[in-house]
Amino acid sequence: MAEQDQEKALALSTPYRFRSNEDEDIPIEISKKHRRCIKCCGCFTAVFLLLAAISLVLSFTVFIIKEPKIKLNSVSVDHLDQINSTLRSGKNLTLTADVSVKNPNVVSFKFKNTTTIVYYNGTVVGDAGGPAGKVKAKRTLRMNVTADIVPSKMLGVQSFDTDVNRGTLNLSSYTKIDGEVKILFRKQVVVNLNCTSMFNITSKRILSQQCTKHVLD
Ligand SMILES: *[C@@H]1O[C@H](CO)[C@@H](O)[C@H](O)[C@H]1NC(C)=O
Ligand SMILES: *[C@@H]1O[C@H](CO)[C@@H](O)[C@H](O)[C@H]1NC(C)=O
Ligand SMILES: *[C@@H]1O[C@H](CO)[C@@H](O)[C@H](O)[C@H]1NC(C)=O
Ligand SMILES: *[C@@H]1O[C@H](CO)[C@@H](O)[C@H](O)[C@H]1NC(C)=O
Ligand SMILES: *[C@@H]1O[C@H](CO)[C@@H](O)[C@H](O)[C@H]1NC(C)=O
Ligand SMILES: *[C@@H]1O[C@H](CO)[C@@H](O)[C@H](O)[C@H]1NC(C)=O
Ligand SMILES: *[C@@H]1O[C@H](CO)[C@@H](O)[C@H](O)[C@H]1NC(C)=O
Ligand SMILES: *[C@@H]1O[C@H](CO)[C@@H](O)[C@H](O)[C@H]1NC(C)=O
Repeated sequence: MAEQDQEKALALSTPYRFRSNEDEDIPIEISKKHRRCIKCCGCFTAVFLLLAAISLVLSFTVFIIKEPKIKLNSVSVDHLDQINSTLRSGKNLTLTADVSVKNPNVVSFKFKNTTTIVYYNGTVVGDAGGPAGKVKAKRTLRMNVTADIVPSKMLGVQSFDTDVNRGTLNLSSYTKIDGEVKILFRKQVVVNLNCTSMFNITSKRILSQQCTKHVLD
């Protein structure tokens, strides 16, 4: 498209150069052809410019789909201070992550399901699926995503006793939100949030936290 238009633009400018050119032996037939071409090209160029202007306006208003932004506000584990006795009695612990999803688009961001996986020392110790929902245009949705930590899986990780003795625990959470933004056509947008939090078991406080997030579209 663009190359063709460049050629047309060249074709448009050549006849004018012919006139001021020193070569006088150019046949008149050619300049007639050129004149027809000028009309034709002029028409094409006008239509093209109009289309370009329309799509430019549209692209700045509705067509651009911006990435939703996800943020971890806080993460907690219930009964963390009694983690050893709770897990040994076979009860689940629940990890709750408070996340915000900001939708910068002019239409809503709908998501089918959310998945949260909890890792401990590289091993999956729990997972959960969250409900579907939607984030309205230009709004932020704040929600709690929870995952059950399964005792047998947690106790199966060798470093558990050492960590409990030391009083700190590193847990990673991976949250995936599978959604779509629809502007004339549907566009799938997957939002990922990976966080590793270092907990103080006795105080239940977070000592350090690192998150990486990315959006696939
Ligand atoms: C998330 O959970 C915390 C405490 O568990 C609660 O205070 C807060 O209101 C919840 N937020 C939402 C959006 O449900
Ligand atoms: C513990 O978590 C597992 C896996 O999510 C679930 O299947 C089970 O029902 C939970 N048990 C209790 C007592 O909540
Ligand atoms: C857990 O991590 C420690 C190092 O922090 C490592 O020595 C150990 O092998 C790991 N255990 C498992 C089951 O991954
Ligand atoms: C965890 O509990 C078991 C059994 O109740 C006990 O033998 C062990 O010493 C406890 N571990 C720690 C680090 O407190
Ligand atoms: C837990 O995470 C902290 C900070 O990311 C790191 O310094 C520490 O070595 C980790 N501990 C274990 C047992 O993996
Ligand atoms: C959402 O659910 C569908 C079917 O129930 C499943 O195939 C898909 O993997 C799920 N997506 C996520 C992100 O869990
Ligand atoms: C988050 O963790 C998942 C599962 O471990 C991994 O597949 C994904 O690449 C990670 N994403 C980022 C941004 O680190
Ligand atoms: C964890 O918190 C307790 C009580 O607040 C404190 O005494 C202890 O030093 C903390 N441990 C670490 C590793 O920060």
